[in-house]
Amino acid sequence: MSNHILQHIESGILKLQLNRPEKKNALTHAMYATLAHALNSANSDSSIRAIYLTGTKDIFTAGNDISDFASNPPKGKEASVIQFLTSLAKLTKPLIVAANGPAVGVGTTLMLHSDFVILGTETYLQMPFVSLGLCPEAASSYLLPLHVGYPKTAEWLLLGNRFTAQEAKEARLINEVLPADQYQKRALEIATQISELPTAAVAASRALIKSHHHSAVLNTIDSECEIFYERLNSPEAKEAFSAFFQKRKPDFQQFNEQ
Ligand code: COA
Repeated sequence: MSNHILQHIESGILKLQLNRPEKKNALTHAMYATLAHALNSANSDSSIRAIYLTGTKDIFTAGNDISDFASNPPKGKEASVIQFLTSLAKLTKPLIVAANGPAVGVGTTLMLHSDFVILGTETYLQMPFVSLGLCPEAASSYLLPLHVGYPKTAEWLLLGNRFTAQEAKEARLINEVLPADQYQKRALEIATQISELPTAAVAASRALIKSHHHSAVLNTIDSECEIFYERLNSPEAKEAFSAFFQKRKPDFQQFNEQ
């Protein structure tokens, strides 16, 4: 269990907090494993009626821990990151995300699996997979075009452009944008509201809504994962990771691979 994930249950709501602010809440293998375990356990715990996920005051998450990825790249479907992504796709309880500050990489793509997302006005979102020499994950190559259409997908997934909470709302990716002192309160109100509804009806309705894309999402997680693992070992990714830690711009002009 990672002590960088805080967990407690209150009034039927499982509250999860990413709590590694010194590393911008970047997600390590241990954090993914703890999150996957919490989500999978929630599915079979009848006392949990909703799940609330948040970050710390100024940051949701800087995404995958790049140092973990470089030194100990994940392998196979048993890798904790894949376990986490699969647990998100298989979640049977409503997930409410409250975020403020940077939401990078999986910090954005996990929102595609959430039921409600409330962002603080200081949030920016970014999926810089390509600029890290990687490829989309969390079924974002399938779900993002479904949510926002191809033009925005090309800007956000291919170019990796940053976008604001307001742009995310206008593109219909998230629900609400509120000032920093209100977004968590609002997300908890929604968590409380849904936890007071009949749980079996919520679960059945949610499963119906998600059923149309369920298999495709799981298949896409698998196919993205194969390419992601190959990319992690590519010269392009190695250059991107070195550049991040050396605080310099990466030089991709030295590579000609297709
Ligand atoms: N993996 C590992 N360490 C990370 C990290 C990540 N994804 N993001 C930040 N950190 C570490 C930094 O190396 C730094 O560590 P140090 O204090 O030991 O030098 C610390 O967290 C603070 O980060 P810093 O970059 O100085 O903070 P910032 O406020 O200037 O910028 C971000 C915040 C999120 C914009 C910036 O950290 C960033 O771009 N991170 C990488 C995002 C990314 O590409 N994620 C991968 C997605 S797949």
